Amino acid sequence: MSKIILTGDRPTGRLHLGHYVGSLKRRVELQNSGDFDKVYIMIADAQALTDNADNPEKVRQNIIEVALDYLSCGLDPAKSTIFIQSQIPELCELSFYYMNLVTVSRLQRNPTVKTEIKMRNFEANIPVGFFTYPISQAADITAFNATTVPAGEDQEPMIEQAREIVRRFNNIYGDTLVEPEILLPDNAACLRLPGTDGKAKMSKSLGNCIYLSDSEEEVSKRVKTMFTDPDHLRVSDPGKIEGNTVFTYLDAFCHPEHFTKYLPEYSSLDELKAHYRRGGLGDVKVKRFLDAILQEELAPIRARRKEFEQDIPTVYEMLKHGSEAAREVAASTLDRVRHAMRIDYFADGQLIAGQARNYQSQQ
Ligand code: TRP
Repeated sequence: MSKIILTGDRPTGRLHLGHYVGSLKRRVELQNSGDFDKVYIMIADAQALTDNADNPEKVRQNIIEVALDYLSCGLDPAKSTIFIQSQIPELCELSFYYMNLVTVSRLQRNPTVKTEIKMRNFEANIPVGFFTYPISQAADITAFNATTVPAGEDQEPMIEQAREIVRRFNNIYGDTLVEPEILLPDNAACLRLPGTDGKAKMSKSLGNCIYLSDSEEEVSKRVKTMFTDPDHLRVSDPGKIEGNTVFTYLDAFCHPEHFTKYLPEYSSLDELKAHYRRGGLGDVKVKRFLDAILQEELAPIRARRKEFEQDIPTVYEMLKHGSEAAREVAASTLDRVRHAMRIDYFADGQLIAGQARNYQSQQ
């Protein structure tokens, strides 16, 4: 069986380090590994509209931001099909059929949807489209016969729901859809990178993000004010690593070579942590180290972004081509789905001839 990747992001803002370590960096590696027959990367504008119905302009303006972030991280349209969700109307039709395979109570149990409803104060008035977006996400994944969905931990309930829909569909209509698997980051710190304030998650509304497109100065400022151990007041005080955002970021980004380059008096992160725990290592020094590492990672991304920013029409042209190619694949899946559901009446000579015979014999 071919190995196919599909994943994507909602275009509600520029992408940040949480997106990067949670999925984006991995996607680029997988794209370049040659292990996959196809890679589809989707800008999920229709899903973004499920909780931004009153602010379509935000979604519209951010499509290009997400596309620029993709390209600057190294997603390559020659190797990956990058497309816009709303340009594939076949996804709506798939969702419409899948809706019959999911119960309201099953949707209500989806933990990610539950958290999001709370976060948006939607409790009393959840838009139907938002409530059912896990179903549309199952359509996104299955339309492309995806086997693998590289995504963050928060997407796990979505993939589980998609798998249930696939099993239910195949069970009723015969083997048609491919059951996807999530591919989570293997590094625990990358699973859920906290915000710079130490809060659970990077989120635009909390103002605790480092964006891939932030300037060198902005990144340094964020690192300088990053949450550490509030009880680590003097350099000589022993410090805590757990819940210390600077160390969580080091867990996510630091490699042994970084020590040789930027902090040669230590040979490993474990050694640095041990010193911090003992006392005698100041936050400023650790933050400078993290800053150097992040700058090294982000500089080439920022530079590539500047280049792509010079040619916006070409980026849209790329998205258009990607969307056309994606649409063909989704249409062919939809053909198979319609056939499996036996709703391809006009192509079904047997159905028509059989019913014709029945009625003739009644004459
Ligand atoms: N839910 C994802 C997010 O919030 C975006 C998304 C839409 C997606 N469809 C998908 C991710 C399919 C993976 C697979 O960013």
